[in-house]
Amino acid sequence: MAHVWGNILILVFAHFVGSQGNQCGEPTKYPDRRLDEKYHHISDFNHDDNVEYNCAPGYRRTGGSRISFCKEGRWTPSDLTCEMVKCPDIKIINSKQFSKIVRYNTTVDITCEQGFILRGAQHLRCELNGSWTPDVPTCEPVRCSAPLMVNGKIQSGVKQHYKPLENLTVSCTEGYDLIGLSLVTCGSDGQWQRLPECRPEVRCSAPLMVNGKIQSGVKLHYKPLENVTVSCTEGYDLIGSSLVTCGPQGQWERLPECRFKVSLTGNCGPAPRYPHAHLRDEYSPTQREHTAEARLRYKCTIGHRLAGAVYCPPPPLVRNADMFDRTYEQVPFGYMVSYRCRTGSLIGAKRIHCTKNGTWSAPPPECRGKQ
Ligand SMILES: *[C@@H]1O[C@H](CO)[C@@H](O)[C@H](O)[C@H]1NC(C)=O
Ligand SMILES: *[C@@H]1O[C@H](CO)[C@@H](O)[C@H](O)[C@H]1NC(C)=O
Ligand SMILES: *[C@@H]1O[C@H](CO)[C@@H](O)[C@H](O)[C@H]1NC(C)=O
Ligand SMILES: *[C@@H]1O[C@H](CO)[C@@H](O)[C@H](O)[C@H]1NC(C)=O
Ligand SMILES: *[C@@H]1O[C@H](CO)[C@@H](O)[C@H](O)[C@H]1NC(C)=O
Repeated sequence: MAHVWGNILILVFAHFVGSQGNQCGEPTKYPDRRLDEKYHHISDFNHDDNVEYNCAPGYRRTGGSRISFCKEGRWTPSDLTCEMVKCPDIKIINSKQFSKIVRYNTTVDITCEQGFILRGAQHLRCELNGSWTPDVPTCEPVRCSAPLMVNGKIQSGVKQHYKPLENLTVSCTEGYDLIGLSLVTCGSDGQWQRLPECRPEVRCSAPLMVNGKIQSGVKLHYKPLENVTVSCTEGYDLIGSSLVTCGPQGQWERLPECRFKVSLTGNCGPAPRYPHAHLRDEYSPTQREHTAEARLRYKCTIGHRLAGAVYCPPPPLVRNADMFDRTYEQVPFGYMVSYRCRTGSLIGAKRIHCTKNGTWSAPPPECRGKQ
């Protein structure tokens, strides 16, 4: 009986050893292939079990079977063939060369030679389908297109394209000031260097100095950054700097003031002067001194009233008549306009003028008669 048990034990042992010898361990690894995900967590494989491979990222299947079998404790070799994905060489005229590794997922930076500018993407990647994305760019010669001058124009050398270092001159249309230099140069990046701007003209009108005057450079208008020197009439002290500059907004910066010279006696100097006004007849403009508490009275010169200058509205238009004179939004005192009938004859005043009270001297004429 013990003999029988011994035989059974031997059989069991033999079977155990036999199946152990038929099992496979971890499937073979290949650099260009990957075991399918579903086999990753299995550690023991039996005789006739199989696993599947796929090409590794960056490789493309060209043939063979994906399957490998466990046969008597060994994995049959996989005959799956995978080819490395390669992108074609990039050849761009007038660009710098780069390293020639062109496998899948390689990125390259394109740089053009000096004087050439990249048209397209700078960074390219070799994709799984073996092509570069985005598309391969080109290197084009650098050119500046004719600059667009808002409220200005190209003064000389009008062309469609300019090479780097080529110059042109620009100017502004009337009523606009050029801010910057008129000579501009096409840059090596295809952009105009320091393109100036045309800004609406800004002017300072002659500074109004009460009890003073412009010492040098009397003009009607001054451009920003222009200077004038001012001074005070006798008997007045200049408070501030005599050099004043026209500011960027058309306002004088820090215009000084002329203040009465205070005399040691406590008296005031001569009567101050104001534009478009004079002392009333009972006061003397030549009196050199005025006692403390003295009062002076002024009146406006003809054509001016206390609030400022006198203006008339634009002259009335007359049917079938021409007017010879320029008209303004505000017509100054004394301005005269004349009418002439295109058809018919003129009834009324041929000429009217702007009166000191801001009205026209007469109603407008009429043109009557044959049409
Ligand atoms: C591709 O390259 C990038 C880095 O450039 C990396 O992050 C990515 O994992 C790579 N992809 C593959 C599939 O190799
Ligand atoms: C290649 O693949 C990329 C990214 O997936 C895609 O943008 C491109 O259009 C493909 N090119 C071709 C020729 O199929
Ligand atoms: C453009 O102007 C600059 C400065 O005046 C000068 O140096 C340069 O030679 C000019 N370029 C051409 C092409 O005339
Ligand atoms: C005006 O005066 C300032 C200060 O002295 C000076 O910097 C500037 O150049 C002058 N402007 C002109 C147009 O002369
Ligand atoms: C303005 O002057 C005109 C003529 O000089 C005169 O006819 C008119 O009455 C005056 N109007 C006023 C409001 O003074």
